Amino acid sequence: MNIILIGFMGSGKSSLAELLSRKMHHKHIETDELVLAISKRKSIKDIFSLDGELQFRELEIKVAKKMSNINNCIISTGGGMVMNKICIDYLKKQGKVIYLETSFEEIERRLKDDDTRPLFSDKKRARELFMFRENLYSKYADIIVSTDGKSLEEVTNCIIKIL
Ligand code: S3P
Repeated sequence: MNIILIGFMGSGKSSLAELLSRKMHHKHIETDELVLAISKRKSIKDIFSLDGELQFRELEIKVAKKMSNINNCIISTGGGMVMNKICIDYLKKQGKVIYLETSFEEIERRLKDDDTRPLFSDKKRARELFMFRENLYSKYADIIVSTDGKSLEEVTNCIIKIL
Protein backbone atom coordinates (compact mmCIF):
# COMPACT_ATOMS: atom_id res chain seq x y z
CA MET A 1 0.00 0.00 0.00
CA ASN A 2 1.01 3.62 -0.59
CA ILE A 3 0.14 6.58 1.59
CA ILE A 4 -1.21 9.46 -0.45
CA LEU A 5 -1.41 12.98 0.92
CA ILE A 6 -4.03 15.29 -0.59
CA GLY A 7 -5.08 18.81 0.36
CA PHE A 8 -4.97 22.42 -0.74
CA MET A 9 -1.76 24.28 -1.59
CA GLY A 10 0.09 25.03 1.61
CA SER A 11 -1.53 22.27 3.65
CA GLY A 12 1.93 20.75 4.22
CA LYS A 13 1.74 17.70 1.94
CA SER A 14 5.39 17.79 0.79
CA SER A 15 6.98 18.52 4.18
CA LEU A 16 4.82 15.91 5.90
CA ALA A 17 5.51 13.30 3.24
CA GLU A 18 9.24 13.94 3.70
CA LEU A 19 9.03 13.48 7.47
CA LEU A 20 6.72 10.46 7.19
CA SER A 21 9.05 8.81 4.69
CA ARG A 22 11.98 9.21 7.09
CA LYS A 23 10.04 7.87 10.06
CA MET A 24 8.44 4.98 8.21
CA HIS A 25 11.44 4.17 5.97
CA HIS A 26 9.37 4.46 2.82
CA LYS A 27 10.32 6.28 -0.34
CA HIS A 28 8.84 9.76 -0.87
CA ILE A 29 7.39 10.59 -4.27
CA GLU A 30 6.20 14.09 -5.17
CA THR A 31 3.76 14.05 -8.09
CA ASP A 32 4.61 17.67 -9.05
CA GLU A 33 8.25 16.64 -9.55
CA LEU A 34 7.21 13.83 -11.90
CA VAL A 35 4.87 16.16 -13.79
CA LEU A 36 7.74 18.63 -14.19
CA ALA A 37 10.09 15.89 -15.35
CA ILE A 38 7.81 14.83 -18.21
CA SER A 39 6.78 18.38 -19.12
CA LYS A 40 10.15 19.50 -20.54
CA ARG A 41 9.60 22.83 -18.73
CA LYS A 42 11.71 24.43 -16.03
CA SER A 43 8.99 25.06 -13.45
CA ILE A 44 5.34 24.39 -12.66
CA LYS A 45 4.76 28.11 -13.25
CA ASP A 46 6.15 27.72 -16.79
CA ILE A 47 3.86 24.77 -17.53
CA PHE A 48 0.86 26.90 -16.54
CA SER A 49 1.95 30.00 -18.45
CA LEU A 50 3.36 28.32 -21.59
CA ASP A 51 1.18 25.20 -21.96
CA GLY A 52 -1.88 26.06 -19.86
CA GLU A 53 -3.60 24.42 -16.91
CA LEU A 54 -5.31 21.80 -19.08
CA GLN A 55 -1.95 20.43 -20.21
CA PHE A 56 -0.76 20.39 -16.59
CA ARG A 57 -3.83 18.32 -15.65
CA GLU A 58 -3.18 15.90 -18.54
CA LEU A 59 0.34 15.33 -17.23
CA GLU A 60 -1.05 14.87 -13.73
CA ILE A 61 -3.30 12.07 -15.02
CA LYS A 62 -0.27 10.32 -16.58
CA VAL A 63 1.63 10.57 -13.31
CA ALA A 64 -1.33 9.33 -11.25
CA LYS A 65 -1.59 6.32 -13.55
CA LYS A 66 2.07 5.50 -12.87
CA MET A 67 1.33 5.66 -9.15
CA SER A 68 -1.12 2.77 -9.48
CA ASN A 69 1.84 0.49 -10.25
CA ILE A 70 4.08 1.27 -7.30
CA ASN A 71 4.03 0.16 -3.70
CA ASN A 72 5.13 1.22 -0.20
CA CYS A 73 5.67 4.87 -1.04
CA ILE A 74 4.58 8.11 0.57
CA ILE A 75 3.09 10.18 -2.23
CA SER A 76 2.56 13.92 -1.91
CA THR A 77 0.22 15.24 -4.59
CA GLY A 78 -0.41 18.63 -6.14
CA GLY A 79 -3.42 20.38 -4.62
CA GLY A 80 -5.42 20.01 -7.84
CA MET A 81 -5.13 16.24 -8.12
CA VAL A 82 -8.77 16.00 -7.05
CA MET A 83 -9.93 17.96 -10.11
CA ASN A 84 -9.90 14.78 -12.20
CA LYS A 85 -11.58 11.85 -10.50
CA ILE A 86 -9.59 9.45 -12.67
CA CYS A 87 -6.42 10.58 -10.83
CA ILE A 88 -7.95 9.67 -7.48
CA ASP A 89 -9.11 6.32 -8.87
CA TYR A 90 -5.55 5.54 -9.98
CA LEU A 91 -4.08 6.64 -6.67
CA LYS A 92 -6.59 4.65 -4.63
CA LYS A 93 -5.80 1.43 -6.49
CA GLN A 94 -2.67 1.08 -4.41
CA GLY A 95 -3.10 3.29 -1.41
CA LYS A 96 -4.81 5.07 1.41
CA VAL A 97 -5.69 8.71 0.87
CA ILE A 98 -5.10 11.15 3.73
CA TYR A 99 -6.59 14.64 3.52
CA LEU A 100 -4.61 17.32 5.36
CA GLU A 101 -7.44 19.61 6.35
CA THR A 102 -6.25 23.20 6.78
CA SER A 103 -8.22 26.45 7.02
CA PHE A 104 -7.84 29.10 4.31
CA GLU A 105 -6.61 31.60 6.91
CA GLU A 106 -3.79 29.27 7.96
CA ILE A 107 -2.90 28.62 4.31
CA GLU A 108 -2.75 32.36 3.60
CA ARG A 109 -0.33 32.77 6.52
CA ARG A 110 1.87 29.89 5.30
CA LEU A 111 1.95 31.06 1.67
CA LYS A 112 2.21 34.80 2.20
CA ASP A 113 5.69 35.12 0.61
CA ASP A 114 5.23 32.37 -1.98
CA ASP A 115 5.16 33.24 -5.68
CA THR A 116 5.65 29.75 -7.14
CA ARG A 117 1.96 28.77 -7.21
CA PRO A 118 0.08 30.17 -10.22
CA LEU A 119 -3.31 29.39 -8.72
CA PHE A 120 -2.58 31.25 -5.49
CA SER A 121 -1.61 34.62 -6.95
CA ASP A 122 -5.19 35.94 -6.97
CA LYS A 123 -6.43 35.52 -3.36
CA LYS A 124 -10.13 35.91 -4.21
CA ARG A 125 -9.98 33.17 -6.83
CA ALA A 126 -7.83 31.02 -4.57
CA ARG A 127 -10.48 31.26 -1.85
CA GLU A 128 -13.20 30.26 -4.32
CA LEU A 129 -11.08 27.31 -5.46
CA PHE A 130 -10.53 26.34 -1.84
CA MET A 131 -14.27 26.37 -1.13
CA PHE A 132 -14.99 24.31 -4.22
CA ARG A 133 -12.30 21.73 -3.48
CA GLU A 134 -12.96 21.26 0.26
CA ASN A 135 -15.82 18.86 -0.48
CA LEU A 136 -13.78 16.89 -2.97
CA TYR A 137 -10.87 16.40 -0.57
CA SER A 138 -13.25 15.15 2.14
CA LYS A 139 -15.16 12.94 -0.27
CA TYR A 140 -12.05 11.18 -1.57
CA ALA A 141 -10.25 10.85 1.78
CA ASP A 142 -9.96 7.58 3.67
CA ILE A 143 -8.60 9.54 6.64
CA ILE A 144 -8.92 13.26 7.48
CA VAL A 145 -6.28 14.93 9.64
CA SER A 146 -6.62 18.55 10.72
CA THR A 147 -3.34 20.52 10.59
CA ASP A 148 -4.33 23.96 11.93
CA GLY A 149 -2.13 25.03 14.83
CA LYS A 150 -0.19 21.75 14.78
CA SER A 151 3.53 21.32 14.14
CA LEU A 152 4.77 19.02 11.38
CA GLU A 153 5.94 16.61 14.04
CA GLU A 154 2.49 16.56 15.68
CA VAL A 155 0.66 15.91 12.41
CA THR A 156 3.16 13.22 11.43
CA ASN A 157 2.78 11.42 14.75
CA CYS A 158 -0.98 11.69 14.49
CA ILE A 159 -0.92 10.05 11.04
CA ILE A 160 1.41 7.27 12.19
CA LYS A 161 -0.86 6.57 15.17
CA ILE A 162 -3.95 6.32 12.94
CA LEU A 163 -2.18 4.04 10.46
C1 S3P B 1 -1.91 23.20 -7.73
C2 S3P B 1 -1.11 22.96 -6.64
C3 S3P B 1 0.36 22.90 -6.72
C4 S3P B 1 0.79 22.50 -8.14
C5 S3P B 1 0.16 23.41 -9.14
C6 S3P B 1 -1.36 23.34 -9.11
C7 S3P B 1 -3.38 23.27 -7.55
O1 S3P B 1 0.88 21.94 -5.79
O2 S3P B 1 0.45 21.17 -8.40
O3 S3P B 1 0.60 24.73 -8.88
O4 S3P B 1 -4.12 23.19 -8.55
O5 S3P B 1 -3.82 23.41 -6.39
P1 S3P B 1 0.90 22.18 -4.20
O6 S3P B 1 -0.43 21.76 -3.66
O7 S3P B 1 2.00 21.32 -3.71
O8 S3P B 1 1.16 23.63 -3.97
